[in-house]
Amino acid sequence: MLIFFVTGGAGFIGSAFARQLLRQFPTCKVINFDALTYAGNLDNLDGVDEGHHHFVLGDIANRDAVMAALAEDTDAIINFAAESHVDRSIASAEEFIRTNVLGTQVLLDCARERGVRRFLQVSTDEVMGSLPEDEKAFFTEDSPFQPNSPYAASKAAAEHLVRAANHTFGLDTVITRCGNNYGPRQFPEKFLPLMLANAMDDQPIPVYGDGLNVRDWIYVEDHCRAILQVLEKGRSGAVYNVGARNARRNIDVAKSVLDILEKPHSLLRFVKDRPGHDRRYAIDPTLVESELGWRPSETWESGLRKTIEWYQTHVDWVTRARSGAYREFYARQYGIEVGAR
Ligand SMILES: NC(=O)c1ccc[n+]([C@@H]2O[C@H](COP(=O)([O-])OP(=O)(O)OC[C@H]3O[C@@H](n4cnc5c(N)ncnc54)[C@H](O)[C@@H]3O)[C@@H](O)[C@H]2O)c1
Repeated sequence: MLIFFVTGGAGFIGSAFARQLLRQFPTCKVINFDALTYAGNLDNLDGVDEGHHHFVLGDIANRDAVMAALAEDTDAIINFAAESHVDRSIASAEEFIRTNVLGTQVLLDCARERGVRRFLQVSTDEVMGSLPEDEKAFFTEDSPFQPNSPYAASKAAAEHLVRAANHTFGLDTVITRCGNNYGPRQFPEKFLPLMLANAMDDQPIPVYGDGLNVRDWIYVEDHCRAILQVLEKGRSGAVYNVGARNARRNIDVAKSVLDILEKPHSLLRFVKDRPGHDRRYAIDPTLVESELGWRPSETWESGLRKTIEWYQTHVDWVTRARSGAYREFYARQYGIEVGAR
């Protein structure tokens, strides 16, 4: 029986990945290890097969907790657990260093001690910094590290630790680097669900700066399929950039959402730019396509429609996720009260 140790599996991408594992390997065992921070949400795991999925509340930076949950014959650790919001890392970086850097090292150490067969680190294109606006410039696996936010710096540090564990100790590791994910169950402070939730409520939509920053968008299920393919077939020690060749300006993304929802563009509100805001991300996915045969299944149009439909039919999920700590964060960040017009 295959045993997967998924960290951060109550978050947006980790929960989609856990579901995908259970569909792909119905007899496997998934240990889902998550600290349930503000971003972790057990609602995201509603309906998973409890016979094969075991949730463990725990912190990846706590060695004893990880060792207690990590079985001897674990086939793979897939590390999604992270502090993942750039704006929060600008407000305070401490938790980012603890979880993203120390937590990754703890997992690597535990993986070696338990003899885990493979370690997959879920990383981000943000470790490579910002591209020039020239549309011919793309991130490749060889692009230099130039992280610009504390979040990106912490994820870059984690990648270095994964590389070192492979090089020095021979741990079988692989790394995936992806751009902006979108899809069901993304915490509503992130750009796309924030837009969706606000637009559905006829609330203003904050857009940073001039709105011309470019991000490379991928449907979450496509990202998860790429992770699975890298896990199964990727070369030990390799890094794979994962992208759907779908780089778009923030303002155009916002307008697409409003158009599909038939809401006026007058809901857009330009707000003070994020400090150090990266201008452009665009991923060249040639390696993962040519070496592993991965291709995205969704187009931007089909993925966006699925995402919007999910949020329209899961209003309760949005309401619950938007309560509490999220409200305070929102008001502090954008100077707009949740509920204000
Ligand atoms: N969302 C994106 O667009 C994107 C793009 C590229 C890479 N990534 C990476 O993918 C991973 C998942 O991203 P996401 O958007 O699903 O994030 P998320 O914030 O939705 O989820 C993170 C999960 O990690 C858990 N967690 C946080 N600290 C923990 C700790 N110390 N111990 C155990 N669990 C902890 C949280 O409770 C949450 O469930 C992250 O590593 C992120 O850097 C995300």
